[in-house]
This record gives sequence, structure tokens and C-alpha cells, in this order.
Amino acid sequence: MRSAVRVGIIGFGTVGSGVVKILVERQELIRRRLGCPIEIAGIADLDLKRDRGVAISKAILTTDANRIIKDPEIDIVVELMGGYDPARRYLLDAIGDRKHVVTANKALLAAYGEEIFSAADAAGVDIGFEGSVGGGIPIIRAMKEGLSAENITAIYGIVNGTCNYILTRMTDEGKQFSEALSDAQRLGYAEADPTLDIGGADSAHKLAILANLAFGTPVSIKDIYTEGVDKVTALDIFFAEEFGYKIKLLAIAKLADGEIEARVHPTMIPKEYLLSKVDGVYNAIYIAGTSVGETLFYGPGAGAIPTGAAVVSDLIDIARNIIKGDAMGGRVPPASFLQMSRTPLTVKRVEEIESLYYLRFTAEDRPGVLSKISGVLGQYQISISSVIQQGRKAGGAVPLVMMTHRARERDVQEALRQVNQVNYVSEPTVLIRVEGPEAGEAP
Ligand code: HSE
Repeated sequence: MRSAVRVGIIGFGTVGSGVVKILVERQELIRRRLGCPIEIAGIADLDLKRDRGVAISKAILTTDANRIIKDPEIDIVVELMGGYDPARRYLLDAIGDRKHVVTANKALLAAYGEEIFSAADAAGVDIGFEGSVGGGIPIIRAMKEGLSAENITAIYGIVNGTCNYILTRMTDEGKQFSEALSDAQRLGYAEADPTLDIGGADSAHKLAILANLAFGTPVSIKDIYTEGVDKVTALDIFFAEEFGYKIKLLAIAKLADGEIEARVHPTMIPKEYLLSKVDGVYNAIYIAGTSVGETLFYGPGAGAIPTGAAVVSDLIDIARNIIKGDAMGGRVPPASFLQMSRTPLTVKRVEEIESLYYLRFTAEDRPGVLSKISGVLGQYQISISSVIQQGRKAGGAVPLVMMTHRARERDVQEALRQVNQVNYVSEPTVLIRVEGPEAGEAP
């Protein structure tokens, strides 16, 4: 029996500190679940001075990540520094040195997952990345193991706490976007570069990982159509409520007829859907499958301790294999399906998708304008399900809001290009995609 499993951590920032704190403070729990302690053999970071609020021996600190990677006493290397390089290089070097690895680096996995997964598979080592999506929600293990008998058909995720917090504050308190963003930054939810959150890239990174595990296909980040929350206005939130909807930033992936859809954008969902009730910094991931029907995973999507606990769960998982004498990893394939059994699937271009649409025109308030706009939509086979015009401004511009039945995105885009050019429409039309019973699954 092993006396300990030894880990080395590269990156002693927010999540790194959470991991160390959990490993130090929950030693007894870990020993009871694992049978031996997980020992921190080294921590590498460029800043060794800052107080992380956890008592550790200074002797294990280093500024040289290579000391961790090359240390023969270390079983598992944990990369928590973020960014692409040198994080990618460190992971590949550790794998090359036959060490198991754990990372929470969603941007890196979304961009270089194939290279890293293939390297881990070829070396026969494990790669854990539970902390990369949904913070404390055990969604990766659920997809790789709990749902392994499932034909997954759809994923709808609220996977960015910052955006969900911003939309919740805007919805509940009528706050402006910029004010809600400042609050999110002050509370430490946003990434170092907040454009990754609000522009939707962080959600797209997470969707690339989830869709990969769900459908057994590599998903390139550049194939994921991405819009953020920065253009959502209080006016659209108001009209969404009038129609009985909430606006959420959804990461959506669907599989149908051997092709997938993968997209991130503000989405209107009926307010009675469970995902509509996921507020603040919380995340939730809805997964539909042909056996289980519908599942929903809910929890804290960020934070040092919830994400740290997800990382430690990977360490325990890998350590369990190690202490059973299975020095080699790979019991569960890195991307859920065997590497050799994965089939690249085409990701539909956004123009090819079908959806319901919310369209807000800024149009002159005079007789005949509504029929002209609906006439253009009609030419493109777009059928209107309801209309709201509030306010009266004879001769001036007013919001004219329409919900459509199911339509093709290409048709909607063409129709809007035409409408946006006419002189009775004074501003570019706002388009928000809508999910609901008519659009398919019910998240
Ligand atoms: N910035 C991310 C979020 C943190 O807001 O959800 C976790 O990935």
C-alpha cells in the first residue's frame, strides 16, 4: 500500500490556493475516501510572496515549473496557471514524462484539447479536467461516466457566472450593463480579461469541451458561433418579460442527422423553464439523452473553493487508480470516447440553423409600416407569432417587436438586411434567438 500520492501544482493563483487549502484542511476526509494522503510535493508560481491564507512549508515553493515536471517523486502534475503557453508545454512535458495531469484550463483544452488528449492517450496517463467547466458542478465526470450509456442529443448550458450575474442584475434591478459588469468585477467573478466572459468566448471554450465529450467529435472553437451579453439592453429584457421569457447567455449544442450545432448567444427561454430560474453567479447544464430524457446539473460555476474541490476530485480519482497498483492511466478515455472511435462531425454554420426569433425593429409610427415589415418577412417564409408595439410617437420611431415561428437563420438574416435599408426603419434591427417547445427540447 502506498504511503502517499504526491502532486505538484503549477500556478498558485485563485484556484491553486483553493486546491492547496482543500488538500491541507481535508486531509482526514481524503484519507478516509482514498486510503492514503495526497501530499503536496511542490508548488510553482512566479509570485512566492503573496499571502494565500494557507499554511504550507516554504521548502515546497519554487519559481521553476520544470522542477515539478521533472521531479520523479511526483505522480500527478496540476496545471492551474491558465493561458495557452507555457501551460500547454508544461502539460505536454509532464505527459511526456509519464505523469498524470490535471488542469482547469478551459481555453487551453478548447484550443489544444486534441493534441493534449492524444498525447495523454498515447502515453497511457490520465488527464483530469473537472474544474474546467461549471466550477464545482461534477459535469465532466457525469458526461464521461454517469451518462456513458446515453445517446446525448442536446446540451443547453449557463456556463459563465459573470454573464449570468450581469443578466440577473439587469433583469431584477433594471441595472445598466456597465453597472452590473463593474459589480461582477468587484466581486471577482470575471476573468482577468473580462472580454472573455462578456464576449462569450469563455462559454464557447466550455461548450467546445462539453460537445466533444457528448458527441465523440473534436469541436473547433472557430466553428462555434459566439455572441456575448454586451449588446443586451434593458429594453430587450423588458420586452422578453412581456412575452413571458427570460434572457440567458446559453451555450447550445445539438446533434441531429449526423451534424451538430454549437453556438453561444443571448437566448430567450420561457420563464417557467428551470434554466430561467438559474440566477446570479450560478451555472446549470441541461443535457438531453435518448434514454434518460432530461437532466439538469446545477451549482456554483466559479470560485476558488468550488473549483478547487473539482480539481481535488480529479486528484482523488487518479490517486485511486495509482494506489490500486495501476500506474498506467487511461481506464476512462480522455474525451469520453476511445480516441480511435471518435468521428469528426460537421458543425453547421449558423446560417443553416432553425430557431424562433425575437426581432425588435425601430420603425416610424405611421400607417402601413407594420404591414410593410411583415410583408418582407413573409417573402422569406418567416411567420410571425406575436407583435407588440408600445408607445405612440406619430412621425417618430418606436420599438416594434415581433416573435416568429420556427424559421431559417439565413432567411431571417436576409430579411433583416432588406428591412434595415428602408427609410421607415431608423436603427439596425435587434435579433435574439428564442428557445421554446416549438424550437425542440425544453431546457
Ligand atoms: N469567469 C468564469 C465565469 C469563471 O464567470 O463563469 C469560471 O470559469
